Amino acid sequence: MTSAFSRRSLLDIQGLTKAEVERILDTSEVFLEVSRRPVRKVPTLRGKTVINLFYEASTRTRTSFELAGKRLSADVINMNVPASSVKKGETLQDTCRTLEAMHPDVVVIRHNASGAPNYVASKIHCSVINAGDGMHAHPTQALLDAFTIRREKGTIENLVVTIVGDIAHSRVARSNAHLLRLFGCEVRVVGPRTLLPAAVDSLGVRVFDRPEHALEGADVVMVLRIQSERLEGALLPSVREYARTFGIGPRTIEYAKPDAIVMHPGPMNRGVEIESTIADGERSVVLEQVEAGVAVRMALLYLFAGEAAEPPAVSEGG
Ligand code: CP
Repeated sequence: MTSAFSRRSLLDIQGLTKAEVERILDTSEVFLEVSRRPVRKVPTLRGKTVINLFYEASTRTRTSFELAGKRLSADVINMNVPASSVKKGETLQDTCRTLEAMHPDVVVIRHNASGAPNYVASKIHCSVINAGDGMHAHPTQALLDAFTIRREKGTIENLVVTIVGDIAHSRVARSNAHLLRLFGCEVRVVGPRTLLPAAVDSLGVRVFDRPEHALEGADVVMVLRIQSERLEGALLPSVREYARTFGIGPRTIEYAKPDAIVMHPGPMNRGVEIESTIADGERSVVLEQVEAGVAVRMALLYLFAGEAAEPPAVSEGG
C-alpha cells in the first residue's frame, strides 16, 4: 500500500521528527473543520478498514478512533475483547494474524503490556497505531495535546509546561515530554517522590517537589489522574493528603501565568488531582482536548491509510 505518510505505523513519539509532527497537526486542522460541519463525513477512506483492538478500558480514545474512521467513511470494527477468543486463551500474535487475514488497513491497539503495539507491528503487515500501552507511550494523546496547545497558545515552541501528578505510571507524561522537548519546551514535572519514575532524568525534564515552584511562570499546566485504586497505602500515604499538597485548585493555579491553560487527559478525579472550579473554569481546555482527539485521529487514519489521496478541501469560511 502506498501511504500518504512515510511511516507505516505510529508506535511512539520518539523517532518522529518535528516536521512529521507538524504535518500531523496541520492535517488535523483540516479534519477539525470537517468535524464542525453540519454533515461531518467525507469519502476519503471509503473501502478502507480500521480495526479497534482495545484490551484496556477507554472512553475517549476508543470512541474518537471509531468516530474518526466513520467520519472518513472507513469500515470500522470495534473488537469486543472480553467477548472474543482472547478469553479462550488466544495469543496476541494469533489474534492479530487472524485479523490481518481479513485485510484491515489499520489496526489500532491499546494494551496493558508496554511494547504490545511494537510486537504486533512486527508480526503483521498493515499499519498499527498505538492507542496506549502499559506505562510506555500514548502517542496520539501527546499529538492531540500538542494540537490543543498550538490552537490555544498559537505555538508549541519554547513554552513552559508543568506536568503534575503520577508521572511514574503515566504513558501520557512520557509521550508529552518527548514531543514537547522536540519543540524546545521547558518541561517540568512535580509530584510525590514515590510517583516519579526512577529514570526521570532520561526524559529531559526539570523535577520539582512543590507545585508552587513548578507552576511559577507556566504557560500550560497538565494535570494527570491519580490512580487512587492502586496507590493508596502503597505509594501515597493518603489521597486526601495528596489532594491537599498537589491538587490543582484556585490557590495553586495562581502561581502559573495569568493566561495559562489547564489540561487533563481524562478521566478526572475531581477533588483529588483537580478541583471542579479549575476543571470547569475558564482556563480549562479539557473538552477542547476531546474535540482535538477526533481531528488528530482522523488525520492519522488519513495519513496511514489514505494512499496519497488529497485531504478534503476546507469549506469557505469554515
Ligand atoms: N485520555 C485517554 O486515553 O482516555 P481514555 O482512557 O478514556 O481513552
